[in-house]
Amino acid sequence: MTWLQVWTETAQIVKPTRYAVGVVARHSCAAGLNSAVPPTFTIPSPRTDVRTSHTSEKMPDMADTNRLKSFVRDFTDLIDDVGSDESRILNRGAPLLANLIAHDDWLPDPFSEPHPDHYQQYLLYCDPRERFSVVSFVWGPGHETPIHDHTVWGLVGILRGAERNTEYTRDEAAGAPTAGAAELCSVGDVTKVSPTIGDIHRVSNVSDAPSVSIHVYGANIGKVERRVYDEATGSEQSFISGYTSDVLPNIWS
Ligand SMILES: [Fe+2]
Repeated sequence: MTWLQVWTETAQIVKPTRYAVGVVARHSCAAGLNSAVPPTFTIPSPRTDVRTSHTSEKMPDMADTNRLKSFVRDFTDLIDDVGSDESRILNRGAPLLANLIAHDDWLPDPFSEPHPDHYQQYLLYCDPRERFSVVSFVWGPGHETPIHDHTVWGLVGILRGAERNTEYTRDEAAGAPTAGAAELCSVGDVTKVSPTIGDIHRVSNVSDAPSVSIHVYGANIGKVERRVYDEATGSEQSFISGYTSDVLPNIWS
């Protein structure tokens, strides 16, 4: 089965368009890893194998969702303050995310459950104006994303495990995307992405256990048209990821 066949079966494909991208910015993660990546990948399967509304009955009472509520409040204040100023959002938002992932007692278990075959993306919160969204990405051992872009600013913080972030460059006239630096991101690290500072990468779980990272994006990311790229052929495919789950954590109880 080709990468396109796999992708078509599991994501919402939309009409392809061209898009210029750059290099993913590096921040707290350790650089210098082998940039070679496996030619195959697994992709998320939106809204499958998920808990439904009954999930709330199974949520552990011990999760301190007040931390997530405080983060959402502070990030809303930030967006209210700086508007669409990407640089200020990333620079001031990164320490907010770092503070959130400094503790691992707030994410309810249903939003950190791995899938045996591919990574999961659980929506934790979306701003009512869709100015930002918060998502937990969960990878099982060996799972990785396809090479993909985001089209909006993003912050990624590692909550559990370790992930390899491999940067790619590509332009309108290019064929296959070119792998750049690979960096190891560990618990507490926060990285930034955007079309301005670099937007194409592949993320892999390099730990023996499930890894969990908390992502903040400048849109309702599950509804954003984005692209995946085939490393061998250079072909691209538009997609809309959706989300794994129909429910969100109750941060208001
Ligand atoms: Fe990404």
